[in-house]
Amino acid sequence: MASEEQPKKIAFVGAGNMASAIIRGLLDTGFAPESIAAADPSAAARTALQSLNMTALYEQPQDAVANADLVILAVKPQIMSAVVNGLRDALSPGTTVMSIAAGIPLATLTHWINTPGIHVVRCMPNTPSLIRCGASALYADSSVGRRERHFAETTMAAVGTTLWVDEEAKMDAVTAVSGSGPAYFFAFMESMIENGERLGLSYEQAVTLTLQTALGAARLASEQAIPIDVLRRNVTSPGGTTERALLSFQTEGLSGVVGSAMDACYRRAQDMAKEFN
Ligand SMILES: NC(=O)c1ccc[n+]([C@@H]2O[C@H](COP(=O)([O-])OP(=O)(O)OC[C@H]3O[C@@H](n4cnc5c(N)ncnc54)[C@H](OP(=O)(O)O)[C@@H]3O)[C@@H](O)[C@H]2O)c1
Repeated sequence: MASEEQPKKIAFVGAGNMASAIIRGLLDTGFAPESIAAADPSAAARTALQSLNMTALYEQPQDAVANADLVILAVKPQIMSAVVNGLRDALSPGTTVMSIAAGIPLATLTHWINTPGIHVVRCMPNTPSLIRCGASALYADSSVGRRERHFAETTMAAVGTTLWVDEEAKMDAVTAVSGSGPAYFFAFMESMIENGERLGLSYEQAVTLTLQTALGAARLASEQAIPIDVLRRNVTSPGGTTERALLSFQTEGLSGVVGSAMDACYRRAQDMAKEFN
């Protein structure tokens, strides 16, 4: 990040898995440790950040957020309301507050923050952010300006790919694709490993071949400008082995199975948003 583009101070409220992944990403991209503050009641979480040369570490959120340009709310959704209630009075006018909590709508966050001059952004990251391979979608309404959007976007870019959606309802689709998506691939890999063993491989062999195949397929699809269906056709010789497997997927209705799972995820995300409303 160029110095004129970056927030002077970023404060994390909650320093668990996701916050510490983002902090590591920011430090790796050259963000100064003294520009980052974090609050977490867990001494272990604070000690872990101390080892990254961070010094602005607090037990109470209100101590971390003072004078921050960007505050990242990274606590569990269930306690978000109480946490926001405790830090609200310490927010400086003009601060951007970004929540990475699953399911909490922008209107609810804005209602909880209830402070004029605060810009609110909602973000849905996913677990590969922990290894800087995440996919994050962001949403803000039209009251949030370019500068504030840039703060939010460049911060999440430290742990992976980012994009904006133009309607909040699309965050539920994001949940169905990238939010929960890593688990779909894990389930598929588990099934391949199980069946590799059934067909005679050792567990270790099945794991090695499955993981490398998943990684190779994802890299091939993302690093080459070749459409995914073309990549699939390229490995499908007429009358060959892959064709038989793909025909079986088609007969068994793979597309329908995936569609139903994603619909179920989407509906659950909608219900969760209603619960927080
Ligand atoms: N992990 C993911 O893959 C993922 C993906 C998408 C979105 N998210 C969202 O990211 C948020 C954080 O998830 P996470 O996986 O990082 O959870 P986490 O590892 O449990 O981190 C949350 C941290 O917040 C701390 N905390 C509890 N009360 C606090 C308070 N009053 N003030 C400040 N910190 C407090 C917790 O401390 P204690 O442990 O002592 O309670 C914990 O260290 C959640 O809202 C989740 O929905 C996570």
